[in-house]
Amino acid sequence: MELSVTNLNFSYTDKPILKELSFSVRDGEFVSILGPSGCGKSTLLNILAGILKPQSGQILTNGQEIHGISGQFAYMPQNDLLFPWRTILDNVCLYGELHQRKEEMKEKAGAQFARFGLEGCEDKYPHELSGGMRQRAAFLRTALCDAGIFLLDEPFGALDVITRGDMQDWLCELRTNLKRTILLVTHDTDEAIYLSDRILILGRPGEGIREEICISEEHRTRDWLYEQGQLRARIHRIIKFV
Ligand SMILES: Nc1ncnc2c1ncn2[C@@H]1O[C@H](COP(=O)(O)OP(=O)(O)OP(=O)(O)O)[C@@H](O)[C@H]1O
Ligand SMILES: [Mg+2]
Repeated sequence: MELSVTNLNFSYTDKPILKELSFSVRDGEFVSILGPSGCGKSTLLNILAGILKPQSGQILTNGQEIHGISGQFAYMPQNDLLFPWRTILDNVCLYGELHQRKEEMKEKAGAQFARFGLEGCEDKYPHELSGGMRQRAAFLRTALCDAGIFLLDEPFGALDVITRGDMQDWLCELRTNLKRTILLVTHDTDEAIYLSDRILILGRPGEGIREEICISEEHRTRDWLYEQGQLRARIHRIIKFV
């Protein structure tokens, strides 16, 4: 599914956070959004998901303008938002339950619990899990949605480096097998280089996209390459520039 954002304006107070922001994402493309803390990344995803209303601007999916909550997006917000009164399995299957497909989703989810390191946690409640486990459960819940565009806000921030690598590979599979369009917010430059077709670097609030970097196929590898190191250093210079 294609996404197109045109002249988006948003502010919480009199200070603009997003100003005339425009960009588009192709069908099946993987785009990462990087930028300094507080520049408006989560705000942007909240607007796309329909949780916040922009003051002006247009959002189109496959050429159709959308307003508010549209059902086109599977959203994993920065804080995991698991419901404390539901078990992990019931949290993960929420989407299926909302669409009257609870049993089918339970089967699908059950097959993934081990892969996500959550075996034995089906009947536990969120407060009984570690931060990393809760984050994996929230990611699994999002991954099981049928929506065309995935909005992921630092989905792996709380994970140890090994598990994070596994989840990144899982995300790669999701993208290849299910052909989803993915918008990922991350602070991890190497993660962005490994996963993305394109990286958008946002500047300070209201500044917009400072630079756009296309990542070629050969750089999406875990074999550490000199060029990836160069790319990482370049991205850091762009983010730090004030
Ligand atoms: N509800 C709110 N009311 C007022 N200002 C807000 C609100 N939420 C966020 N902000 C401000 O808007 C700016 C953008 O916030 P946002 O959460 O989008 O940043 P971010 O780029 O996601 O940062 P981080 O990388 O730290 O998650 C920040 O300066 C923040 O202080
Ligand atoms: Mg954020």
